[in-house]
Amino acid sequence: MSEYEIDQVEQSTPSDPKLQVQLASRVHRLPPYMFGRINSLLYQKRRDGSDVIDLGMGNPSDAPEELVIEKLAEAARDSGNHGYSQSNGILNLRREVASKYFKRFGVRLDPDSEVMTCLGSKEGFSHMCLAVMGPGDTAIVPAPYFPVHTYAIALASGNVIALDVSDHEKFLSNIAYTCQQLYPKPKLLIICYPHNPSTATVEPEFFVEVVKLAKKYGFMVISDFAYADVAFDGYRPPSFLAAPGAIDVGVEFTTMSKGYNMAGWRVGFCCGNSEMIRGLGVIKGYYDYGLFQAIQIAAIMALRHTDAAVERQSDIYCKRRDVLIQGLRRLGWAVEPPKAGMFVWAPIPEPWRSRMSTMDFAMMLLEKADVAVSPGSGFGDAGEGFLRLALVENENRLRQAVRQIGRCLDNEEKNLQKKSPDGLIPQA
Ligand SMILES: Cc1ncc(COP(=O)(O)O)c(C=O)c1O
Repeated sequence: MSEYEIDQVEQSTPSDPKLQVQLASRVHRLPPYMFGRINSLLYQKRRDGSDVIDLGMGNPSDAPEELVIEKLAEAARDSGNHGYSQSNGILNLRREVASKYFKRFGVRLDPDSEVMTCLGSKEGFSHMCLAVMGPGDTAIVPAPYFPVHTYAIALASGNVIALDVSDHEKFLSNIAYTCQQLYPKPKLLIICYPHNPSTATVEPEFFVEVVKLAKKYGFMVISDFAYADVAFDGYRPPSFLAAPGAIDVGVEFTTMSKGYNMAGWRVGFCCGNSEMIRGLGVIKGYYDYGLFQAIQIAAIMALRHTDAAVERQSDIYCKRRDVLIQGLRRLGWAVEPPKAGMFVWAPIPEPWRSRMSTMDFAMMLLEKADVAVSPGSGFGDAGEGFLRLALVENENRLRQAVRQIGRCLDNEEKNLQKKSPDGLIPQA
């Protein structure tokens, strides 16, 4: 093409038509990310050089055991491990998971049909919801809710009924009541103990009742057992699958993210009902090619040889829990020590609770105390009035966080008194 012709083409090109990107309605149906405001201020503060103590996300800050990292490096050097892996996970890893379930909970699982490896339990959970839920189906979820428990259902076009999880007797009777009243009946129950965010725990009898209800009313169960490995004071979180008949009605998700400090590795498992697992396998077969094989091989080492490290990690969280609880109680907060999990679920003390929303309180702590926490309202309406503090910083940093929170609240109180010398502080 001559220079003249190129000129002609350029002149005749209409001004860049902008494509109007129209995202699918399922994206619009999702609410704005509740932690967005907190995260952008956290990012801003860090960029400006503030040393923010981050108790926001349950993101483990310690490393896996050295032998697990070494195994990963060794497996990564093997050229045979770099192709696509099996979408349901390599057999030896599934066998190891089955063996752990048997040793720890007395649950027998067939590694071929009752165990599946996932890209983290969150991926498995979300795709399981796609496998079992559809338009017009309803799921019962615990309230307050870990966001994916609700939004994976929404993404699968299902409806959600959120039931208060704080009293498990009431939770069970509300499940029964919902099943009696709702038509069509709920198709799925999601449970999560130790619960994130409320830290509620249960004893094995609770799951026996869940299985009875599931059989009576004909719903499936997904148990999110993410905090199976993090427990304190001799408490052993029970597995849903250990309840008689559980495997007839449901599955359980576990993860290596928390107890094994492997959150970034994305190793999770789905165990239990073979038909539900088959459905998950069908969905996953279309979406992914499985987890990097070197990670799966290192995960086998971790499951086989690092029980003692998992116990030690629980002790670390326990000590952090005690430091944080004692500190907050010294500030006058009425906080209960959790028996398990990586969080403290703290009611915001008065008068702050009546003065401002949970989100504003969390923003104030971040802005003025340099401490990031998760506002309970990020976990739905039932979380309003609470903060979730993750035990992911060391004991000294937690003591520092408490001091900074105390100082911030004292200063704010004084400022409010100055603005309102008659003592009548406006209730926002
Ligand atoms: C209750 C609960 N389920 C699932 C997950 C996700 O775990 P994973 O890293 O295995 O996807 C978390 C992570 O914080 C969690 O708290």
